[in-house]
Amino acid sequence: MTTPTPNAHKGQSPAEAVRLSSRHLLGIEGMSPLEIRALLDRGNHFADHPTDGNSVALHGKTIVNLFYENSTRTRTSFELAAKRLGGSVLNIAVAGSSVKKGETLLDTATTLNAMHPDILVVRHNCSGAARLLSQHVDAAVINAGDGRHEHPTQALLDALTIQRRIGRIEGLTVAICGDIANSRVARSNIHLLSTLGAKIRLVCPPTLLPADIQHMGVEVYTDMESGIADADIVMMLRLQTERMAGTETPSQREYFNLFGLNQDKLNRAAPRALIMHPGPMNRGVEIDSAIADDVEKSLIHIQVEMGVAARMACLEAISLGAL
Ligand code: CP
Repeated sequence: MTTPTPNAHKGQSPAEAVRLSSRHLLGIEGMSPLEIRALLDRGNHFADHPTDGNSVALHGKTIVNLFYENSTRTRTSFELAAKRLGGSVLNIAVAGSSVKKGETLLDTATTLNAMHPDILVVRHNCSGAARLLSQHVDAAVINAGDGRHEHPTQALLDALTIQRRIGRIEGLTVAICGDIANSRVARSNIHLLSTLGAKIRLVCPPTLLPADIQHMGVEVYTDMESGIADADIVMMLRLQTERMAGTETPSQREYFNLFGLNQDKLNRAAPRALIMHPGPMNRGVEIDSAIADDVEKSLIHIQVEMGVAARMACLEAISLGAL
């Protein structure tokens, strides 16, 4: 078993699993560069060996997926990742659960806790929900997205995607574009990619910029052409209308004209710039279909593929407990 060592990021996958300093995975903020690199190396190993027969880390363990918000990629990939590691997976369909009868998050969690799951994978619309749960259950908690706060496994899979395609993260210019204010993906990626030495630009209308942004060590642009000029990675984000008051953008058509990624705007980026999007996409709102489907430039499907590998690394690490 490997702890995150200074050698863990040299491009070779560690043969053994990673252990983290925390028993929960609640966010990228606070994780050390060594922990992040070790998880990426282990994810890289699982990407090359998706059905690694030696990995039975979750054998005899129960993983509960508790999703209060919709999900296709995250829920499915956590299930696949857990099963590939030999775990038993229980998916709680909140729409068909006692949540609909008024049960609170904590009551639901303590009810599930009484059945002694080993890992609780939680998505919730409230920032801080995963941390709150971690204080009230015996299971280890993995944050699968909490409100506008963090989506740590998305950032890990994004970094794994970049690292496998370009070979490094350090020194890259990454433009994160769109609805930053409502994006947990942006927040986790800012922490992770800047920790690993990327330069981060945020590109969005002033109405979609978070208030606390000056503390995050990023450059801010309110026009797309300047914001993505010479960028190596252009990461587009969905307009999260479910978290909006309705006054942030005049119309989706105007938003696309100013901040949607099309070929004209992309021509300003670095010649071999790559396109990312965490999904789900709104074609014609934040990204033109031709760009999204350009297999030479778009990493969107690779991001989905890396989701399973990155989550295998996280589940394995969490199943081993804290250092
Ligand atoms: N990127 C992401 O979290 O997608 P889902 O909402 O489909 O899980």
